[in-house]
Amino acid sequence: MKKWKQKAIVQKTISYLPFSHKINFIFQKYVTKGVDLSVDYFYDRLGHAREHIKSFQKYSNKAIPATCLEIGTGWYPIVPVSNFLAGADKIYSVDVSLLVSKLRLQETLQKFLDSNNSGELKNSINFLPERFAIIADLINDYDKLSLDEVLQKLNITYLIEDARKLSLPDNSICLVNSNNTFEHIYPEILIPILKEFKRVVKKQGGVMSHFIDMSDHFAHFDRSISIYNFLQFSDRQWKYIDNSIQPQSRNRIYDYKQIYSDLKIPISYESFREGNMDELKSITLADKYANRPLEEIARSHCHFISDMNNSD
Ligand SMILES: C[S@@+](CC[C@H](N)C(=O)[O-])C[C@H]1O[C@@H](n2cnc3c(N)ncnc32)[C@H](O)[C@@H]1O
Repeated sequence: MKKWKQKAIVQKTISYLPFSHKINFIFQKYVTKGVDLSVDYFYDRLGHAREHIKSFQKYSNKAIPATCLEIGTGWYPIVPVSNFLAGADKIYSVDVSLLVSKLRLQETLQKFLDSNNSGELKNSINFLPERFAIIADLINDYDKLSLDEVLQKLNITYLIEDARKLSLPDNSICLVNSNNTFEHIYPEILIPILKEFKRVVKKQGGVMSHFIDMSDHFAHFDRSISIYNFLQFSDRQWKYIDNSIQPQSRNRIYDYKQIYSDLKIPISYESFREGNMDELKSITLADKYANRPLEEIARSHCHFISDMNNSD
């Protein structure tokens, strides 16, 4: 049996267990080896952080987003820490479950120190030296501090809640961002989340910046399948394969654009990866993709920036 199918079966089983996210972390750490903080992952997310800040600066005409909100915290808070280094006063990260631990936060902070020592950090983001000094001090005193104390010094607040109902006031957030998260949220949940983002983002100078990875995530683990493998299945078949701990909506770029358009959220700038037409053509597509231009289906990653000054 192909590796991706074995993983799908194991994750489906884990998804029915209590503490499924914790069990999935252990499964991914020791079996699929997909949750270590690799150098590639660190610099990929650092690149996202840089693009979020640049997007904010371009559309708000301000240097630093005072308040930031991220959805989909993930295991390692690279983007929130980057926002802290850039000068943000209040950084929220919302997720339905708390995935960060004190140890994983320490690994993240250590990577920032290593990156600075190698000279790479300066090339990646414009950070405030005094903020960097706070991180260096935190690492020195790490054992004496609790997770909450470390987060407080980094201006980070974790909101463990459903992003469809945020405990944040209207018109309070300068920069709303996400990193490879929308693809894990089906439209019936993503639409209310985006409505909530519209509510909390500042009407004057607020910006949204979202990176979406539309590739089949099983292909990240099993190199024998392409990033379009999941497009061969009907919705009915996919329901049996997909799981609730790492769901994949399989939405394509045009689906997201339709959602934005329906919600009257402007896409002020978009970029995408073209994808690989030969790989896509090797898949027999499910009917729901049949009437769409292949080059649109092929797009594998996208980045949408919204200047919320222009939204109703
Ligand atoms: C793939 S993970 C995030 C990846 C992370 N941003 C990164 O860069 O590696 C997607 C996250 O979205 C969270 N999520 C899904 N639906 C949500 C909701 N309605 N409210 C808050 N978080 C949600 C999941 O719990 C999951 O941790």
